[in-house]
Amino acid sequence: MRFAPHHLDEIRARLPVSQVVSGKVNLKRQGRELIGLSPFKVEKTPSFTVNDQKGFYHCFATGEHGDIFSFLMKTEGLAFPEAVERLAEEAGVELPKETPKTPEARAQTDHRQRLYELVEASALFFQANLNSSSGTFARQYVERRGLSDDTVARFRLGYAPDGRTTLKQHLAKAGFTVREMVDSGMLIGGEDIREPYDRFRNRLMFPITDLKGRVIAFGGRALDANQPAKYLNSNDTPLFHKGRVLYNAHDARQAAFEKNSVIAVEGYMDVIALAQAGFNEAVAPLGTALTEDQLALLWRMAPEPVLCFDGDGAGRKAAFRAIDTALGHLKPGASLSFAFLADGVDPDDAIREGGPEGLQAILDRARPLADVLFDREWGDGNWTTPERRAGLEQRIKKVISGIGDEVVRSHYERDMRDRLFTAWRRKQPRAHAGGGNSGGPRVASTSQPFLKKPRTGGNNGFARSGQGGQQPYGGPAFASESLKRSSLAAGYGAAIQNWEAVILKCLLNHPFLIDERPEEIAELKLASASLRNLRDSLLSAHALEKSLDRTSLRSHLERLGAGDELYRIDQLVLHRSDRFAEPDAEADAVREGFDHIIALQQERAGLSRPLGTGFMGR
Ligand code: UTP
Ligand code: MN
Repeated sequence: MRFAPHHLDEIRARLPVSQVVSGKVNLKRQGRELIGLSPFKVEKTPSFTVNDQKGFYHCFATGEHGDIFSFLMKTEGLAFPEAVERLAEEAGVELPKETPKTPEARAQTDHRQRLYELVEASALFFQANLNSSSGTFARQYVERRGLSDDTVARFRLGYAPDGRTTLKQHLAKAGFTVREMVDSGMLIGGEDIREPYDRFRNRLMFPITDLKGRVIAFGGRALDANQPAKYLNSNDTPLFHKGRVLYNAHDARQAAFEKNSVIAVEGYMDVIALAQAGFNEAVAPLGTALTEDQLALLWRMAPEPVLCFDGDGAGRKAAFRAIDTALGHLKPGASLSFAFLADGVDPDDAIREGGPEGLQAILDRARPLADVLFDREWGDGNWTTPERRAGLEQRIKKVISGIGDEVVRSHYERDMRDRLFTAWRRKQPRAHAGGGNSGGPRVASTSQPFLKKPRTGGNNGFARSGQGGQQPYGGPAFASESLKRSSLAAGYGAAIQNWEAVILKCLLNHPFLIDERPEEIAELKLASASLRNLRDSLLSAHALEKSLDRTSLRSHLERLGAGDELYRIDQLVLHRSDRFAEPDAEADAVREGFDHIIALQQERAGLSRPLGTGFMGR
């Protein structure tokens, strides 16, 4: 046969069925599948389905069923080799020039087969070692890291012993040649190395598999702190190309398909900790920034992968890089979002500290790509002159021009224009207010009434009902006390908003409430989207660290990016009857007042429509 199976697999891996089909069939998403009018039959009701995860199409009208190759054969009458060649070109996969009938080509295929067997034998060897006496320390390490026996077995973790030839001897006994061992990456060899030796020594071993679940390479974690490299990966081999593989992609694919979401994290241990906590849809690149191939793989798993990064500078940088890699490939409905953890915390830590719920809260607050992109360009926000503003605008335009898809690009142009427009307007009053805001523009939240900055209004920055003036940005901001107490006059909205702000202020000043009743707080129905965000941030902070005092809670929140919301809450002037929310109130008074206001607010929240723009426009 002319084409080796791995070539066909690679073409399939790079070309989603939907992409091949979309030239002929207009597809719409329906659940996990795409659906359109059958190309095999004239019909009015779509019965042709495409499943990218599974890599096939199925036509319910005609019973036709197949993959990308058969699609081209059937719809264009191509022979199999022609279909393969066409798609190989589209996928950028290079096919061997000669037909594999030649002895060399056959030898090449056989060689690959041998390498698969070799790395599999190595995986088994490492696994056995972890369970032997030489693996005692590694076993203890794994236990200390909180991995269960099940998890260890599922990820096939192993131990590479300390000698220079332990694996080499084992593989030799199994009949493999030294050349094969070097080619597979298991030994370090080369011209200037007389005796090739084991690449992985005294390391905890993580087998890396391809999309079929076959082991193709390894990552190894040092157990000895003096090792210069904490993690070591196999070099690129005929089986393994670092930039095209994601750790755990095989297992994650199924879970991603079921949840319609996929999470990319930075490290092996993060993936494993996530899986152990029930997030089976996690993958990681192998010690490098995400490549285009890896992004494409992520998009085959779910339309909007969540990239999960450290909240520190390095994490932000990694996010910015991923944006640049992604822009050219954004499609209608296909984007990325970014979940930022606290500084110095990786997902593994986050789960240990906050459990699955803590991590879920962080994932739920993932920010859209457009948001993070705008933040990056906005930078420190020192856009005080028309020239600087023009410069910023031009830069953003340039970045956006890198978006390949025309429709997505035009939406980005509009989105960025809106953000800039709002940001310029928001700059002035804030500068006046004495620079209380240090956290960047947070323009993402401008659709949320709570954050809207009234141009007029009282010294606390919140609108006063008595002034009766129009809200400049259509947002209801906060009602004054009289308004709050006469919800009829104000409409429920204003009252609810003020109660909500008091609730949040109370939680900020008395974090013990979060310890005492996290569930109830999580379930509070809040009409204001930005207060909901603040509440979620509170819970995330609490998930990261229990029994927070007021000050650490605030610093967590600032790191989680909630600085702007905090600022607004700080400006809120409390009525006498809301004294329980003040920092100096007694615990019992706090509990009682909190109960009372929650009851009021929840009752009203149940009656009221969700807040949107124009809510106050009676
Ligand atoms: P981290 O240093 O964040 O590791 O590197 P980690 O996953 O939190 O590991 P633990 O928790 O200390 O065990 C993240 C990823 O970067 C790559 C690895 O793929 C690692 O999982 N890396 C890191 C390397 O390739 N080499 C290194 O020396 C360090
Ligand atoms: Mn870690």
